[in-house]
Amino acid sequence: MKREWWHKSVVYQIYPRSFQDSNGDGIGDLQGIISRLDYLQALGVDLIWLCPVYVSPNEDNGYDVSNYYDIHPEYGTMADMEQLIDEAAQRGIGIMMDIVANHTSDEHPWFVSASKDRNNPFRQFYVWRDGKDNREPSELQSFFGGSAWEYHEQTGQYYLHLFSKKQPDLNWHYPPVRQAIYDVMRFWISKGIRGFRFDVIDLIAKEVDNNIIANGPLLHKYLQEMHREVLDGANVVTVGEAGSVDVEQAILYTAPERRELNMIFSFEHLALDEEAGKQKWDLKPLVLDDLKQVLSKWQYGLAESGWNSLFWNNHDQPRIVSRWGNDTIYRYESATMLATLLHMMKGTPYIYQGEEIGMTNVRFPDLSYYRDIETLQMYKERIQKGYSHEEIMTSIYAKSRDNARTPMQWDQTDHAGFTTGTPWIAVNPNYVNINVEKDLQAERSIYRYYQRLIQLRKKTDIVVYGDYQLLETEPQIYAYTRQLGKERWYIICNFTDKMVECKLLNQLPTGEMILSNYQKSFLNGSLRPYEAIIWKTRI
Ligand code: NOJ
Repeated sequence: MKREWWHKSVVYQIYPRSFQDSNGDGIGDLQGIISRLDYLQALGVDLIWLCPVYVSPNEDNGYDVSNYYDIHPEYGTMADMEQLIDEAAQRGIGIMMDIVANHTSDEHPWFVSASKDRNNPFRQFYVWRDGKDNREPSELQSFFGGSAWEYHEQTGQYYLHLFSKKQPDLNWHYPPVRQAIYDVMRFWISKGIRGFRFDVIDLIAKEVDNNIIANGPLLHKYLQEMHREVLDGANVVTVGEAGSVDVEQAILYTAPERRELNMIFSFEHLALDEEAGKQKWDLKPLVLDDLKQVLSKWQYGLAESGWNSLFWNNHDQPRIVSRWGNDTIYRYESATMLATLLHMMKGTPYIYQGEEIGMTNVRFPDLSYYRDIETLQMYKERIQKGYSHEEIMTSIYAKSRDNARTPMQWDQTDHAGFTTGTPWIAVNPNYVNINVEKDLQAERSIYRYYQRLIQLRKKTDIVVYGDYQLLETEPQIYAYTRQLGKERWYIICNFTDKMVECKLLNQLPTGEMILSNYQKSFLNGSLRPYEAIIWKTRI
């Protein structure tokens, strides 16, 4: 495998609205991020994936762009953005821009023009269809609920929106659309950014008339074209969000010789608490064996070709410590165990803001606290369908995207040091106990543990390139090895809040403990609650 600089990189994801406010308007901004760059440098990250900061009506917090070439005034100015790119670079950190190219805002000038009349030159930028028998062209549903078609009175046709009706889908089959997006990418490359994250990239080549939404037949042709036209020689790293992609398809996206993307985000490991074939809100209990099977399948599947992204969280997912861990008494142990499991795998790890201090899900007392369009639409829909308020709140507490979007918890002062004003979304009340300042002061903290994991990746090739092998163990334990040359590391993790017997511990060859999340590590055949160890041997 040809070695690339981003194989060794660790990415930190920032949701700008909730990271750090600098001007007291209650909304995070670019100057806020700049003021925290030293913190990120000390953590050891190489790249920042910045969620959208473009001009946007904020129907979906920036995933509805109305101008790709400018910064939303809430976040600052283009001069602030240039300063961020520059100051990050001085600290050895590159910026990855979020390219939202499956759809725009309905307030984007392209859509405004396209809506004027059927002959407008921009009409074909979007997907318009006639109705059928005075109804929508098809039964297609939006990911946010309701029909994916919206009737446009003035021109008498429906337009497609796979997300909200304020996010009309672009028509990638129309070459000028692709060129327009390539121009956007060239513009940001010329600003000095080091990478792109592509929003829902698996949806761009949809063929609605053939009922194909994800992985359309022309998708790889378009990605190869994008590579030829923009990415070739640009020395940027790329990751595509691809919720409907399996391992075989992932190779098509990421095999280097295909010249498409460097890696994708797949979500199979994060759907294990969902009932198959239903919505993300329909919960089922987690089973560790499912996680072992899914993560291992991806580790083996992309071992020779392609590359994995490694992530537990993002701005759309609940907090991992509340999901697979224990966010009360064993918060430190479970957050560090989960970090160990993920960061010792092969791939590029992504840390979502607050994960490094073990931020948890939030349980707001009522719906008025929630801001996320997906959550609010689901509530309306399910109430209409007869679900009880309590049932819906159970789903929201477990899965709402707002779990990840509460402000970053910096310190114990009002609003957790996020803002001096009123935050756009309330701070999780547990900020008094869970915050950056506390973690920095403590010798034993989740933050310090993340620092060590990142350093291990930087220092040792085995973490980056070693072969992965799942080990057979007790059902409460996830254990695997990494091997490179004559060196083998054992990663052993207890996923329960109980002491569990672990036969493997007695069979470990002599070696040394590289890292453990308990102070005095002992190997007398049992693992303590959420204990994680990394054991190094030679073979
Ligand atoms: C995925 C993004 O991560 C999510 O936040 C957004 O709502 C949808 N794509 C639509 O852009």
